[in-house]
Amino acid sequence: MYLRKITILNFKNLAEESIELAEGINCFVGDNGAGKTNVLDAVYYLSMSKSALTMTDGQSVRHGEEFFMLDGSYRTDDGHAESVVCSFSRRSGKVLKRNGKEYERMSDHVGLIPVVIVSPADTALISDAADERRRYLNAFISQLDRNYLRAVMRYNAVLAERNRLLKMTSDETMLEIYDAQLAEHGAVIHDFRRRTAERLQPVVAEYYGALSGDRETVELVYRSELNERPMPELLRASREKDIVNQFTTAGIHRDDLVLRIGGYPLRKYGSQGQQKSFLVALKLAQYTIVAEECGERPVLLLDDLFDKLDMGRVEQLIRLVAGERFGQIFITDCNKVRLQSVLEKAGGDYSLFAVENGRVVR
Ligand SMILES: Nc1ncnc2c1ncn2[C@@H]1O[C@H](COP(=O)(O)OP(=O)(O)OP(=O)(O)O)[C@@H](O)[C@H]1O
Ligand SMILES: [Mg+2]
Repeated sequence: MYLRKITILNFKNLAEESIELAEGINCFVGDNGAGKTNVLDAVYYLSMSKSALTMTDGQSVRHGEEFFMLDGSYRTDDGHAESVVCSFSRRSGKVLKRNGKEYERMSDHVGLIPVVIVSPADTALISDAADERRRYLNAFISQLDRNYLRAVMRYNAVLAERNRLLKMTSDETMLEIYDAQLAEHGAVIHDFRRRTAERLQPVVAEYYGALSGDRETVELVYRSELNERPMPELLRASREKDIVNQFTTAGIHRDDLVLRIGGYPLRKYGSQGQQKSFLVALKLAQYTIVAEECGERPVLLLDDLFDKLDMGRVEQLIRLVAGERFGQIFITDCNKVRLQSVLEKAGGDYSLFAVENGRVVR
């Protein structure tokens, strides 16, 4: 996928920008707080119809303004044009349009313009609780298959209902009904997550090896109560506990991804650079799987390229993503000189944009 042009209105500190982009590597350089991450987030927003940062839509509207608008013109890998316009107003909410036509359901858009982001905020995937990793898996698999996102939304809706019920009564007939629904959607989610993790593992290991010069081995394992027994059995076994605790204590909403380096937990035993390398390898593996599955190379966003990586690993990363497997890339860094030097070493073309105080100039 190639984002040819993006127009940004009132998105965070970007007042009004129209940027023509290159098909290959696009670099955004500027000081801290200039707006580099905001540009990448605008690109991400057009794909996922939400911010990559944990921000509400309202927080993405430029201070003092009523609305923001993003307009992207794309060309797909097989050469046809797509236009996506997303606007959000404090008063009337969000509207998303593809080629001039408004979506009935926002979730129908996810996957059309595949995107993968590598950002300093990814560390939450390692340091935070399991729900962060589930959120990641959800965003990732949603881009592969709409049925997944639907199953997740339905599961969560039923789960909320079931928990509400448990707070009031322990009506067994109602529980039976909810359990059947949870089992149905849970099985779909579990199957997607299991297959995705199985596909990820070898590719993550391969990219990690390439980044680190085969210095360490890494592992990614899908942990789920549903690996042990099917959801109906699980819910039956935990029903009494659920009634006592007044919420659903077992199920897909407790899944996790276990990340290891050299056989030990990555969070405790990985150095900062190793953790970052793992995250980069994970995102590149995600990229590869989305590209294979959708037949469309995602837009790759590398925010803060040098964050925690040494020069050797950054060079290796650039060499990897400059290859045929990857398409359009956005890179940000606050140091123009070092970014240019690493890009020149890797060879190949790139376009450079200066970001200053919410303005973007080529
Ligand atoms: N809703 C908003 N309205 C106006 N300005 C905003 C809004 N949200 C964020 N900002 C501003 O955007 C700026 C941060 O932009 P951004 O995160 O893109 O910087 P950056 O260039 O990536 O910096 P760094 O190099 O530190 O990562 C801050 O000055 C912040 O105050
Ligand atoms: Mg930034």
